[in-house]
Amino acid sequence: MPHLHLESFHPIALPATQGDVAFDFIATSRGEGKESLIATRFRDREFFVLHKKSGEKHLLKSDKITRPSPNFLIKQALLAYASHANLVILDSNVDTAGENVHLKTHDALKSVDFFADHFPTGREVRVEVGFGSARHLLHQAAQNPDVLFIGLEIHKPSIEQALKQITIQNLTNIMVLDYDARLFLELIPSNTLSRIYVHFPVPWDKKPHRRVIGDVFVEEALRTLAVQGRLELRTDSENYYRFALETYSHPNYARFEVRKNQEIAIVSKYEDRWKRMEKNIYDVTLINDFESPQKVLEGAFVFSEVP
Ligand SMILES: C[S@@+](CC[C@H](N)C(=O)[O-])C[C@H]1O[C@@H](n2cnc3c(N)ncnc32)[C@H](O)[C@@H]1O
Repeated sequence: MPHLHLESFHPIALPATQGDVAFDFIATSRGEGKESLIATRFRDREFFVLHKKSGEKHLLKSDKITRPSPNFLIKQALLAYASHANLVILDSNVDTAGENVHLKTHDALKSVDFFADHFPTGREVRVEVGFGSARHLLHQAAQNPDVLFIGLEIHKPSIEQALKQITIQNLTNIMVLDYDARLFLELIPSNTLSRIYVHFPVPWDKKPHRRVIGDVFVEEALRTLAVQGRLELRTDSENYYRFALETYSHPNYARFEVRKNQEIAIVSKYEDRWKRMEKNIYDVTLINDFESPQKVLEGAFVFSEVP
């Protein structure tokens, strides 16, 4: 995670700009171990830069929740703040190299507005939820050049890795979105997708409500899948497997297929690990048999100021 260690820290008069980076306000926590969040804007992205005391030093880094992708954005913001406030940098892992060309020229990375405004039509569309190392996403896109793949991920380093590989492999049929898959399905017109892949989702054994698969997700998946479209769950987790069977057995849901230890063409990092440990791998595939009515969407999908 990009950060700067500073000799000292002080707030600047706000609002302020340094180059293309704008700082709007600072919110500081009360009491011991004070932390400050600096509201920052850079290239249409809004995020927080976090300041906290770390031993004798002061740490300036990105805030985990709002951290933008690519890393270049946060690096520029950290350097801009330090420069504007005339802060002495003791050490850092922020290079001053220019922007990563893979990301700069990348138009595979889309915003949620893009999909809300013009959901791609006219060709087969498949969605992969939580693509992680993106091995499966890249493989599928290379094998099926006529199909459009939308990859959803919330882990920014995985997104950066995927974008680099998309460039290196010259793939033009992948769109990548940094967004929670459970919310994204709501934006998709009904009867649109041919497949939704959910491979090795986080099991969340102690907090099952955080699982990607749940009643609302399954309802939205069935609405957005075309007739004969498939929601493909692949997991090594016995609990997740049983949970999916239970969820799919709801009387209104469609038919499903179950397979154990089925070989597939491409093996992800997680699958590699589970196979070495000789764990069972389960595929539970839900198949949609019905046409769904169109959904009427209201409201915006980005955070904005409350009037
Ligand atoms: C265990 S990893 C599996 C990655 C990959 N599918 C594989 O098979 O190697 C789960 C991935 O899902 C992502 N993820 C978790 N919840 C998500 C959500 N609600 N929306 C999109 N991605 C999510 C995580 O960031 C993580 O990269």
